[in-house]
Amino acid sequence: MHGVGSRNKLMPSHARYYPGDGVLDVAGRAICEVHCLPRKELHEAFETATRISAFARRGGRVVDLCCGYGLVAQLLLIIDPRFTHAVAVDRRLPKNHVAVHQALLAAFPRLSDRMTFVTSDLHAVSVDHDDTLVSAHACGPLTDAVCSRATEVNAAVSVLPCCHQWRRRDDLRGHPDPASAMDHERAELLRSRGYHVVIDAIGANVTQKNRLLHARPQA
Ligand SMILES: C[S@@+](CC[C@H](N)C(=O)[O-])C[C@H]1O[C@@H](n2cnc3c(N)ncnc32)[C@H](O)[C@@H]1O
Repeated sequence: MHGVGSRNKLMPSHARYYPGDGVLDVAGRAICEVHCLPRKELHEAFETATRISAFARRGGRVVDLCCGYGLVAQLLLIIDPRFTHAVAVDRRLPKNHVAVHQALLAAFPRLSDRMTFVTSDLHAVSVDHDDTLVSAHACGPLTDAVCSRATEVNAAVSVLPCCHQWRRRDDLRGHPDPASAMDHERAELLRSRGYHVVIDAIGANVTQKNRLLHARPQA
C-alpha cells in the first residue's frame, strides 16, 4: 500500500494506517474490514466532505449525485450535524455499497435511518431549494448536469470535477491548463445565475483531479 492516493483496495491489515479516534481513522478501520474500496476514494470523500462542511452556511438534506458508494454524503452526515439526512443516487450502485454503509453504520450509529440509496439517473430524482447537492468525480459533462440540477431549484452545490472533455474544445487547444479553464467557466456560469462561488481544492496527494467548486445562492 502506498500513500493516500493509492488505488489499491483497503483490506483488514491496512487498519494500521487508521489508528486514531478521529472520524477518518474510525471510518478507515471500518472500511478496511469490507475490503472493496480503493484507499484514494476514502480520502477523496473525507477531504471533500470536510471542505463542503467548511463552506456550508446551513444543513438539511444532502443529495449525492453519481454517488458510487455515497461516501461523501455519509461522511458529511457524520462530521456535520447540521446535515440531517441524505439521498445517494447512482444509475448503477456498486455491489458492495450496502456492506460499506453497514460498516460505517456500525462504527457511527448516528448514521442510522439517515441514508437512502436510490438507483436512478441523476435527472430523474427530485431536488429542492433547501437541498445541498454534492458530487465527487462525476465524469465530464455529468458535473455540468449536477450543477444544472442545482440551478433549476436554486440549491447549493459542491462538485469535484474530473474527465474534462477539453479535446472537443477547439478554443482550448494549446491552453496550458484546459481543465482549469473549464472549471473557471463552470464557476462563471454559476455566478451568472446568481451564485456565490468558491474554487477550492482537496489535497493533490490524494488526487490530481482535486479542484472543488462550491456554490450557494446569494442571500
Ligand atoms: C467516477 S464514478 C464516481 C463515484 C463516486 N462519486 C466517487 O467519487 O467515487 C461516476 C459515477 O457516476 C455514475 N453515473 C454515470 N452516469 C450517471 C447518471 N446519468 N446518473 C446517475 N449516475 C450516473 C456511475 O455509475 C458512477 O458510479
